[in-house]
Amino acid sequence: PLATASADVARLIRWADDFPEPGVRFADLTPVFADADAFRDVIDALVSVGAGADLIAGIDARGFLLGAGVARSLGAGVLAVRKAGKLPPPVLGRSYDLEYGTATLEIPADGIDLHGRRVLVIDDVLATGGTLGAATELLEAAGATVVGVAVVLEITALGGRARVAGHPVTSLLTI
Ligand code: PRP
Ligand code: MG
Repeated sequence: PLATASADVARLIRWADDFPEPGVRFADLTPVFADADAFRDVIDALVSVGAGADLIAGIDARGFLLGAGVARSLGAGVLAVRKAGKLPPPVLGRSYDLEYGTATLEIPADGIDLHGRRVLVIDDVLATGGTLGAATELLEAAGATVVGVAVVLEITALGGRARVAGHPVTSLLTI
């Protein structure tokens, strides 16, 4: 889906060895978002994945940037799926294992009715799939229909796609 821009986007990724823990290789997409052409091409490619969605769920933190851009272009709403402790109660949460430690994602338990909403879940990177697996479970537990999952970069060796089984997963780039 990235066609002409994929090489440029890939080249802009900032790789960090042993971050945030020894043995983990971290893909930092900050320079992708800071490049006007790369950011536009990534958003446009994700928009083409999101046809039919009426709500974009962006995962804390880089998924917020992507999710907001996609939602605006698509004419959809955007839902920030937060790391634990950021939202006032009541919240719905789901914990998951990372390559390093554990974490919890949360959404508001009231104020947004997710029943009948068609949600595309967006994050920057799919690695072990713990994050997106938890996000899709959380959204479905809240009544949403998850129509797909989309990321800029999938690290295929970690097999994360299996953790979001049952949903179409689109990655713009793979390594
Ligand atoms: C990174 C990345 C994804 C997640 C992918 O986020 O942004 O959200 O890891 O890994 P997984 O598929 O193994 O779950 P991280 O939790 O490091 O935090 P950040 O987004 O706040 O930087
Ligand atoms: Mg993240």
